[in-house]
Amino acid sequence: MPILEGKVAIVTGAARGTGAAIAERFIAEGAYVLLADVRDDLCKETAARLGANATFLHLDVTHEGDWSAVVEEANSERGSIDILVNNAGVLHQGPISNTSEADFRRLLEVNTLGPFLGLRAVVPTMKARGGGSVVNIGSIDSLAAMNGLTAYCASKFGLRGLAKAAALETGRDGIRVNTVCPAGGNPEMFEPWMGKVMGFLEETLAYNNDRGIPGSVPVESIVDAVVFLASDASRHVTGIDLPVDGGATAGCFIPGFNTL
Ligand SMILES: NC(=O)c1ccc[n+]([C@@H]2O[C@H](COP(=O)([O-])OP(=O)(O)OC[C@H]3O[C@@H](n4cnc5c(N)ncnc54)[C@H](O)[C@@H]3O)[C@@H](O)[C@H]2O)c1
Repeated sequence: MPILEGKVAIVTGAARGTGAAIAERFIAEGAYVLLADVRDDLCKETAARLGANATFLHLDVTHEGDWSAVVEEANSERGSIDILVNNAGVLHQGPISNTSEADFRRLLEVNTLGPFLGLRAVVPTMKARGGGSVVNIGSIDSLAAMNGLTAYCASKFGLRGLAKAAALETGRDGIRVNTVCPAGGNPEMFEPWMGKVMGFLEETLAYNNDRGIPGSVPVESIVDAVVFLASDASRHVTGIDLPVDGGATAGCFIPGFNTL
């Protein structure tokens, strides 16, 4: 039997990239998916491509009113919400001197406040039905910091704390809350900054090889981890950070030491 048979899932930021891939796999695994995003036209197209078990809903994760509407729609159309994937995210790259107060606030609002509002919206429904699974998409930058990513790291470290506290708070209601921490995703997220590192792209991307399994992590591997945490196969797993990072946060890979 498909691992998500009969489950109803909300996936935020599902217009493209990792969120669209999660939605597609969830459907292949038997789930009904509400694809939610601020990119209305693109998300509508994605939902249409995924067929009858996909619906588009407008959602700005920073607006509590949008969350209420999405939860109401899920309950009235499908009768439940079994899974929430807090995947929507935004990036800002630049040192502190190039990160404005508005940039910092925007990242905290979308990447940290958004998942908090998502929890607030779905927990009562999940509790009433005896449980559910919330999966947050963090980042390798939730676990170890990088220069030039102050606002992003702050927002993604915060997301882990939110998930752990929520896991403790809701465990007795059958609700699990976990965070997947990938070292990869949709390269389109970096596009606005690519021009600035073109002159030294090789050096900039060298960190991708300083890990047990070198290279950027493909989206399919992130999706595998999300499916596991969303499904009953992880029924006793809550409050964890699951790095999908080729061992990047395990420590340092030192090439010469492999030849000793
Ligand atoms: N791209 C990477 O290399 C990478 C690495 C690690 C983690 N991540 C994380 O993975 C997740 C998915 O990102 P992606 O790589 O697919 O990039 P992406 O830019 O393709 O996807 C992000 C999605 O979030 C949506 N979004 C942005 N603000 C929103 C809001 N206020 N409300 C609702 N939706 C909103 C966007 O429209 C977009 O569809 C994000 O949380 C990101 O931080 C990405």
